[in-house]
Amino acid sequence: MRIVFLGPPGAGKGTQAEILSKEKKLQHISSGNLLRDAVENGTETGLKAKQYIEKGQLVPDQIVVDIIRDRILDKDCRNGFLLDGFPRTLAQAKALDEMLKKLGNKLDIVFYFVVSKESIVLRLSGRRICSACGANYHTKFVPSVKDGICDKCGGKLYQRADDKLETVQERIRIYHEQTEDLIEYYKKNGILKEIESETDIKTITKKIFNVIKDASQNEPLINFGVA
Ligand code: AP5
Repeated sequence: MRIVFLGPPGAGKGTQAEILSKEKKLQHISSGNLLRDAVENGTETGLKAKQYIEKGQLVPDQIVVDIIRDRILDKDCRNGFLLDGFPRTLAQAKALDEMLKKLGNKLDIVFYFVVSKESIVLRLSGRRICSACGANYHTKFVPSVKDGICDKCGGKLYQRADDKLETVQERIRIYHEQTEDLIEYYKKNGILKEIESETDIKTITKKIFNVIKDASQNEPLINFGVA
């Protein structure tokens, strides 16, 4: 199965992608994580991407499309993947359609996470990430047992630099300006599923699983990635 998670920053895409990809054995492809890895490794791509990420702006399409194309072509993505944070512009969406067409595939579902600006700010201001294993926490909604320490590996938790309030405001602005058009694009394709995401994590997971269950009943050819 080939899925896209679309929605504003902090909507909970990464949180739900972790859960769904494990359960359905799909490769979780996060464009943000791939870009941050490139920045950390000091690659040429990372050096180019850094300036945009720090300002809360989108990295140029060609850079992101190339990274995603390479990842999708990996053997472990043959049976399905879940794209989290990509595409984010119409050009990226069209490039993705082309990539999949060449592989004889297409997207099955695009989940659109609907959430208020107040919740976005609340979620991003409290988000903490483990510096060792990348696990995702929230100071209020998903707290670690020991303050500042990862429950899973004991690593130190940190706040993402682009989760500062002023950068979050810019990310939200950019989302409205450049990514919202995709909602119409996928609606027209008939594969957009809206997920009201104002509620708790478990309730949202249930909604996503219900959509997938319905889709698999209506479309028996959907490959769920179980090799
Ligand atoms: P990226 O890393 O993709 O960031 P984003 O899309 O802004 O999304 P986030 O990771 O901030 O939020 P999320 O929706 O995954 O929320 P999460 O589950 O963590 O992109 C970062 C940057 O990289 C971009 O600004 C851009 O520069 C660049 N980039 C990336 N992709 C690009 C592309 N395609 N093109 C160009 N540039 C690109 O949840 C947030 C917090 O809330 C967590 O603490 C979580 O525990 C908590 N939480 C989750 N769900 C709930 C809930 N239901 N209730 C309460 N708390 C919750």
